[in-house]
Amino acid sequence: MSALSIRAYRPADRDNLVALWDRCGLRVSYNDPDRDIALLRATPTAEIFVAEEASQIVAAICVGHDGHRGYPYYVAVDPQAQGKGYGRQILRHAETWLTQRGVPKMNIMVRDTNEKVRAFYLAIGYEETPRFVLSRWLTEDGSPPSGPVQATGTLSCTITSLEMTERPSHTPVPVSSQRKIALMRAHSPGAAFYRYLYDRVGEKWLWYERRAMDDDTLSAIVDDEWVEIYVLYVDGVPAGFAELDRRHPPDIELAYFGLLPEFIGQGLGPYLLGSAIDIAWAHDPQRLWVHTNTLDHPKALPLYQRFGFVPYKREDEVIPDPRLHGLIP
Ligand SMILES: CC(C)(COP(=O)(O)OP(=O)(O)OC[C@H]1O[C@@H](n2cnc3c(N)ncnc32)[C@H](O)[C@@H]1OP(=O)(O)O)[C@@H](O)C(=O)NCCC(=O)NCCS
Repeated sequence: MSALSIRAYRPADRDNLVALWDRCGLRVSYNDPDRDIALLRATPTAEIFVAEEASQIVAAICVGHDGHRGYPYYVAVDPQAQGKGYGRQILRHAETWLTQRGVPKMNIMVRDTNEKVRAFYLAIGYEETPRFVLSRWLTEDGSPPSGPVQATGTLSCTITSLEMTERPSHTPVPVSSQRKIALMRAHSPGAAFYRYLYDRVGEKWLWYERRAMDDDTLSAIVDDEWVEIYVLYVDGVPAGFAELDRRHPPDIELAYFGLLPEFIGQGLGPYLLGSAIDIAWAHDPQRLWVHTNTLDHPKALPLYQRFGFVPYKREDEVIPDPRLHGLIP
């Protein structure tokens, strides 16, 4: 039995994952896959895992918990790869994810006519637990929705990815200000200080991905020595930050960049961006890239272009509205 390499879902996996669900017959008319993916990603107690072989997703699982029990959804192994132990491995991965979060039990619901899947779960150590299972569709008349569930609670946006493959000739724009400006790297800032920056900068632009992470997951990223976080201070007060992600050389990603709301409109953005670009190129990457979406500040895209980034990809994405999922007040 070959060991699967299992990792968390990334937005670029979307088409590959939905194609796997289709091959496994897991899509039903009333489920919108984009809505399901968006909702799972916005839920701090849920995760999507995928396993790739030859750049194709061959197995995937969604898992979530309610603080007491865990549940798997969309358990899928490519029909070409079934019977090789991948189903067992991806389930075990989800179980480990749950036990690491203190969740002691997995519950699985399988239609009693679905002999195949029932046999699979029995073979990997699950027991039949007789219970009445009661459910109700949360529609007005209690009947199943007739078409795809309305994508309420989601937002559509377009993500533009931009790159520069040569060091630009500009120098950071000096800030004409009487105030003391400093840019300092925050080494291992920890989750609490990082959250202060991220939440304050991103609230208006609905940045939610890092809000959805628990402290351990977040610290593992922001305290990584290959993730460089530069904080802009104005008269000693944090005014913004830029984050360079160097974990995937030879490229560097400008993963986050922004100002706290009270510092917008004072010429600090170009200074912070110019400085971050200079610092990134001092590491001599093959390419520096960034992405921005249409929910970001409308000036973000033209600012990146003014500083030499060139758009190379545009993708439409449906994201959960983080305000409706408790992530942003
Ligand atoms: C169900 C599914 C995930 C199983 O994945 P898989 O990779 O084929 O399963 P594995 O190879 O890991 O099998 C693990 C064990 O289950 C047993 N098993 C798997 N399918 C079985 C079947 N149809 N009948 C009897 N036993 C079965 C295997 O024999 C193996 O037992 P063993 O270790 O004692 O030999 C896969 O068939 C699938 O994706 N099906 C389509 C989607 C689906 O129905 N998902 C479930 C939604 S709830």
